[in-house]
Amino acid sequence: MRLVELLGTKLPLIQAPMAGVQAHALAVAVSNAGALGSLPAAMLAPAALRDELAALRDGTSRPFNLNFFCHRPPEIDAAREARWREQLAPYYREHGIDPAAIPSGPGRAPFSAELADIAEAFRPPVVSFHFGLPVPELLARVRGWGAKVLASATSVDEARWLEARGVDAVIAQGIEAGGHRGHFLGGDLDVATQAGTFALLPQVVAAVRCPVIAAGGIASREGVAAAFALGAAGVQVGTAYLLCDEATTSALHRGALRGGGARTTALTNLFTGRPARGIVNRLMRELGPLRADAPAFPLATAAIAPLRARAEAAGSGDFSPLWAGQNTSGCREVGAAALTLELAQGIPEEFRR
Ligand SMILES: Cc1cc2nc3c(=O)[nH]c(=O)nc-3n(C[C@H](O)[C@H](O)[C@H](O)COP(=O)(O)O)c2cc1C
Repeated sequence: MRLVELLGTKLPLIQAPMAGVQAHALAVAVSNAGALGSLPAAMLAPAALRDELAALRDGTSRPFNLNFFCHRPPEIDAAREARWREQLAPYYREHGIDPAAIPSGPGRAPFSAELADIAEAFRPPVVSFHFGLPVPELLARVRGWGAKVLASATSVDEARWLEARGVDAVIAQGIEAGGHRGHFLGGDLDVATQAGTFALLPQVVAAVRCPVIAAGGIASREGVAAAFALGAAGVQVGTAYLLCDEATTSALHRGALRGGGARTTALTNLFTGRPARGIVNRLMRELGPLRADAPAFPLATAAIAPLRARAEAAGSGDFSPLWAGQNTSGCREVGAAALTLELAQGIPEEFRR
């Protein structure tokens, strides 16, 4: 089945869900333009998720995607947390922060029965998952309301694993992609072995029968066309939407994206505990972007939060996660519909509806 039939859209193009930099407005604009808009749920409290879904439903009658993380929350390891705060001690001193007063705790919530109850009331036609899939009972609930299920794979093995569990399409996420790596087989720091989009994509296409959606570094109509030439059934674009009018990307993050520094990104686990790609900043430079001693995902968020708040109040992104993919050349200050239609020009005729 073609992706447009599966998703119910005119275009086989997905605006990547991007927690922290967008809410319903971006998804509404993209869905109304004929592609699939996405709402990321990972950083929304239950009440906020309900409000966002209501606004999304109000804004469009077209299909949309609701996205969840599905990590298993780790136990808090007090000794590891204390050792990590030791590493950050010079920064706490510099900013006059008492490390003992920083609460530990999660920063991002995985899909749960409570969130499924909220989602089900809105019956999102597409649900996508990052970091594998939820437990079978929760996945069955999503299927129960008729949603098509998508999930990210960063390797051929992950794509096969997802297909064996019945996903409707696999998102092949290359190493160029902005934000968190979706990987879930192997260790958190295995990213060194992962492939770029145009190396991964044809191998995943050859390995699975379901449609494959290419993600990572695609930021122009030519990039979109290249993905289809390599066997993609659709594309998912994140970074290029970051400067769009409807994105909630902060002024600081927007400034970093516009600057020359945006060409230098790295995978880092300092901000959340899991590798994610962002623009290199002071914390990443000084500590090194990937550290085995960072608290497990998503617990690392807590230790950085007060540093981030102090620095941002002073206009500095030294401690902020400035998520972005390797290819920021498509970021433009335009409405998301205009960007969507521009990207869509790379889609071959036979893939549209
Ligand atoms: C700022 C930002 C936040 C992201 N947040 C999420 C998220 O909440 N859920 C998710 O599945 N993927 C997330 N991603 C990854 C995207 O789904 C996608 O893999 C990536 O944007 C594609 O590569 P590109 O950024 O080069 O277009 C995020 C990406 C960015 C840039």
